[in-house]
Formats: sequence, C-alpha cells, structure tokens
Amino acid sequence: MDGLDTLKARFIAAVSAASDEAALEEVRLAALGKKGEISALMAGLGKMDPEARKAAGAQLNILKDEIDAALRAKKAALADAALNERLQAEWLDVTLPGRPRRMGTIHPVSQVMDELTAIFADMGFAVAEGPQVESDWYNFDALNIPPEHPARQEHDTFFMARAEGDNRPPHVLRTHTSPVQIRAMAAQGAPIRVIAPGRVYRMDMDQTHTPMFHQVEGLAIDRDISMANLKWTLEEFCRAFFKVPSVELRFRASHFPFTEPSAEVDIRCSWEGGQLKIGEGDKWMEILGSGMVHPKVLAAAGVDPTQWQGFAFGMGIDRIAMLKYGIPDLRAFFESDLRWLRHYGFAALDMPDLAGGLSR
Ligand code: PHE
Repeated sequence: MDGLDTLKARFIAAVSAASDEAALEEVRLAALGKKGEISALMAGLGKMDPEARKAAGAQLNILKDEIDAALRAKKAALADAALNERLQAEWLDVTLPGRPRRMGTIHPVSQVMDELTAIFADMGFAVAEGPQVESDWYNFDALNIPPEHPARQEHDTFFMARAEGDNRPPHVLRTHTSPVQIRAMAAQGAPIRVIAPGRVYRMDMDQTHTPMFHQVEGLAIDRDISMANLKWTLEEFCRAFFKVPSVELRFRASHFPFTEPSAEVDIRCSWEGGQLKIGEGDKWMEILGSGMVHPKVLAAAGVDPTQWQGFAFGMGIDRIAMLKYGIPDLRAFFESDLRWLRHYGFAALDMPDLAGGLSR
C-alpha cells in the first residue's frame, strides 16, 4: 500500500487549503465520508488474505486517525480565526466617555433637603411630615399662640376661605413647620427625634422674602435633653453641611411662644469680594430659631411635661442653600428659569449621602 503516503499528503494539503468550514467538510467527506477514498480502501480489506489484511487495516486506521486529527485542528483554527475577525470588527472603546441625555437637574432646595436629611438621619432623626393647609389650632394654639397673641400678626398669615355662614376659624397656609412638632408627638409620643422639611407661606415679598419658602423643623424629646444637646446637634449639622472643620455658632436670647428658653442662632462668616466664607471672619448670619420645647406645647401634643423635655429648632432652607452654593438672589429660586436651573442645579442621579459625599 505504497499509495497511502501520497493519499495522506494530498488530504493533509487539502485540509490546510480549506478556507472555511464548508470547504473543510468537503474534504472530510472525500476522505472519511461513506463514499470517501479511505472508506473505499477499508471496504477493500475484505478481499485480502488475513495476514495482509491485518497489516493494511492497521495502516489505514493510523491514516484515518491522522486525517481526522488534522480536520479537527483545522476546524478549531478556523473558529479561532472567525472569532478574532469578529473581535477586530466589533471593537469598542469602553473608556470613551458616555453621551448622557439631558434629564433636567435637581433644584438646589431639593438638593439641600436631601443633604440635611442625610445628615440628620445619621444622628438618628426620622423625617416627619404635615399638611401645608393647616388648621389654626396646629399652626398657632397648640404652639402656645392663643387667638389674640401678637405673634399671630407677625406671621403675615394666608387664610383659606370658609363657606358663607361657616364661622369656624379659617384654615391657614402653615406659616412655619412647627405644627409638625405637634402632629409628630401626637402620633408617636415620646421619646422622639424628627426633622420636618417642607414648604411654608407668609404674605411677604421683597429681595429676601418670597410668599412661599422652605423650613426644616427639628425636634428631640427625651427624659434629659438640654440646650447643650441642641448646641452640639446644630454644630455637628453645620460642620457636615458646610463641609468645614469647625464652625462657630452664636446663641442669642430670643422669644418664641413655643420654646422656653428661646434662642436665635447665628453662624460666623465673612464676606469678601462677594465671596462668603463659613466658619471664619467677623460677620454673623442668622440661620435659625430654637429653644427648649414649652411645657404647654408638650401637653397640647399629649406628652407629659413632668416626664419629658427637649429641644426644637426651625431653620430656613432657602437661606442655607444660598449660603452654601453662593446663590445671590432668593427670588430666582422660584422663577423656574431653565438657564438658572442648569447653572445652579444638581445631577439627577447623585443622591447625597454621608459616605459618598453630600454634593459634587
Ligand atoms: N417656627 C419658628 C419660625 O418660623 C422657628 C422656630 C422653630 C423657633 C422651633 C423655635 C423652635 O420662626
């Protein structure tokens, strides 16, 4: 069977010449297929005498295995080449920056609400809410502001209309977030630690006042909470919020009907060349009102003032947003000017948290 070597050389050459899977399959059929040349030689073995058949059979089997191995190797090589070609053709630079679609921006007030919620949540304060249309009992009476109290005038209240002949006191647009103190204590009792960010309304409009603005109320009631806890809480908040290593707060004696004692709180700052700096300088900026919750307020909310005490504060959100982000005019907050929002707004997917950073 001298022809076997030439046969082998021919098939091996055909295998290596096959340029795709279909051509390779043709070679396979021609060699090892039912009607292939090797198969025909195998069939011819039957006519040989036993000695010759044994020798020829062994040779043919070796040849068959060799061609089979060559076919498999070529098949794998073709598959690799095809994959490489695809990898080359479909190459994609994943380091290219994406092309984000414009999704609108987060308003600085929303951003600051998210920031302060993250900071106070870290100190154990939950978020409480109340309605913006409030009864005058929650907005005033329960907060120790009886009907003839002068503080009612100072609040420049918006009153809701009552139906003709209905002589009950009208509802009001809440003038502060303090009514949420009453609602939260009435609902949860003591001890309690909540903040209540939200909209408030007063009939006032000039460079520094808008008829709707935002406050955040804070309330912490327990058995032994004092002004010292208030001071620490506010200092911690300001350090985290303004991202400064230390802040200085000034507590000025003041008066609110719903706290006793009461204090207004100023933060040390400087104004230089239109640049505001928090924590240094010789200016003071008022940022909030606060005090120890009045026993009458605790009682109105169903909390026993002989057992419980604590602090409350109310802070202007728009004001601290202006301070932190250098926004000069309050009124622009509520004009819905898209150019302003694009300039002062925040990326929609950056949620403030203490671990990842409050804002970028
Ligand atoms: N409600 C007060 C205001 O709007 C602020 C305040 C809240 C003061 C809580 C003391 C305690 O001016």
